[in-house]
Parts: sequence; structure tokens; C-alpha cells
Amino acid sequence: MKDGQLMTLTMDFKETATWLKSHYPPAVDVVAVLGSGLGDLADQLIACSVQIPYSKIPHFMASKVAGHSGNLILGQLPSGLHLACFQGRVHYYEGHPMESVVYPLRVMRLLGAKTLILTNSAGGVNPALSPGDLMLITDHINLMGTNPLIGGNQDEFGPRFPDMSEVYSASLRTLALSKAEGLSIDLKQGVYCAMSGPSYETPAEIRMIKTLGGDAVGMSTVPEAIVGSHMGMKVLGFSCITNAAAGVTQGHLLNHAEVLEAAENAKPKFSQLLSSVLMALPNE
Ligand code: HPA
Repeated sequence: MKDGQLMTLTMDFKETATWLKSHYPPAVDVVAVLGSGLGDLADQLIACSVQIPYSKIPHFMASKVAGHSGNLILGQLPSGLHLACFQGRVHYYEGHPMESVVYPLRVMRLLGAKTLILTNSAGGVNPALSPGDLMLITDHINLMGTNPLIGGNQDEFGPRFPDMSEVYSASLRTLALSKAEGLSIDLKQGVYCAMSGPSYETPAEIRMIKTLGGDAVGMSTVPEAIVGSHMGMKVLGFSCITNAAAGVTQGHLLNHAEVLEAAENAKPKFSQLLSSVLMALPNE
């Protein structure tokens, strides 16, 4: 990327941040990205303060995938923290460049956010994971074939070669586990493996992921987690296991409707857990 382009990108970020600030003046503390079929969790998490369709926000891309509603909700939690909730995300498989996939998170960092909660729907690779289970992401494997930090480094966001030893904050994971226990939710833990999609994996790919140490597989989250970590944010990630990955259950074919239905069924539990974690987040 040429220097000129870098300048423009940075200007775009500032323009979006200024525009959002004019609609919601407080600094943002926490960002939550709600994945497939989970978008309306936002309504249960915060008394809505401002709801803005992505299409209205300067330089934002809107997702066109069913189950991804495409609104940003900004509001205050009872604890006083200000939360930005993304109802749906833009995916790499839609043909958007990685910069667009992670653009909203960089804007949120400019608005002050230091904590990032990522959610997704995922296929269970580990046979111990069943549809309907919630999995705390302990680490990830990036098999998307690219990295959102490729290109000129934006030094104001983070270093050229960021460490990735603890992308998913150990302290936030401990908090999530203790909240799950308090709610009698059996929160599983595992490694999330990201593929580009949009085709689901083949049984051979799932066997490969299993061999590599992946427990769940999906098509999102990893770019956002890398960029959040690059910017020094504390990241927490949850997968809602919506199906057994390809070949794990013999003769079962995957489809998006099944994924949305399983996410819908897990929603009450997921929403309870997320709100309980959000309420307990420290005011740093
Ligand atoms: N594979 C990839 N992405 C997914 C899956 C899957 O099985 N289920 C939900 N998202």
C-alpha cells in the first residue's frame, strides 16, 4: 500500500469515528460482535440508546447474509460501561477485502474501546461438542489463507509484528467461566479454526483441522481477534456450536438454515451468559 493510500484510510477512520461521536457522544468501553442468528441478543443486553443501520454509517460495509441484520447499537450498561453492539458482521467470503471486515473495530478503538467480545456460530469438530453447546474460545488457528494485518502497518493502531501468545484474554476467560458456572451453563472450551468459506468444509478438511488441534470451525472471528489484539484490546470469544462439522456425523449434510435454527435455540442461554459477563466487566 502506498503512503497516500494509508493517509486516506486513516482519514476515513477518523471521519467515521467523528460521525458516530456526533450520534453517540460518550466514549465506547466495550464492543460486542454478534454473529449468525445472534444479532437480536443486543435488544436483551442494553436498553437501546441509538440504533444505526450500517448502510448509514460513512465507510461501513453492510453484510448481505441472512441472519446478519446489520445495525450498530450504542448504549449504556447498568454498570455504567458504554457498549457498542454490532448486529451482524461483514465476512471475507462475501468478497469484501479484509480491511473492510475489520474496519468497524478500528473505528471502535478510535472511539476508546478496550474490550472486544466476539461471537459466532461454528461447526463442532471435537465430538465432545454438540449442537447447542457454547464454547469459550481459548485460542485460534487461522486457515483463511490471509491475514487482516497484511499491507502497510497503521502504526497508530499497533506494531508491525504483534505478539499473538494470548489473543483471548486469560482474565476475561476466567470471568466468563465463573459466570457460566454461576448460571449452571456448561461452557465448553476449545480452539476455533477459521476457514475462508463460503463452502462448508469437506470431511477430509475437518479431519485435518482435528489433527491440527481445532475443536470448532467457522468463517469469521479470527480477523477481528487478530486486529483487536493488534490494537491492544482484551478479546473474549464465544462459539455457539450449531452443527456437527462435515463428516463428524455420518450422512448429515450441512445447511445455513440448520445453523440459524440451532443459534436461535441457544439464544436464551447465550444471552444470559453474555449479559452476565458484560455486567461483571471491570470499569478500567
Ligand atoms: N463450518 C464452517 N462454518 C460454520 C459451520 C461449519 O460447520 N457451522 C456454522 N458456521
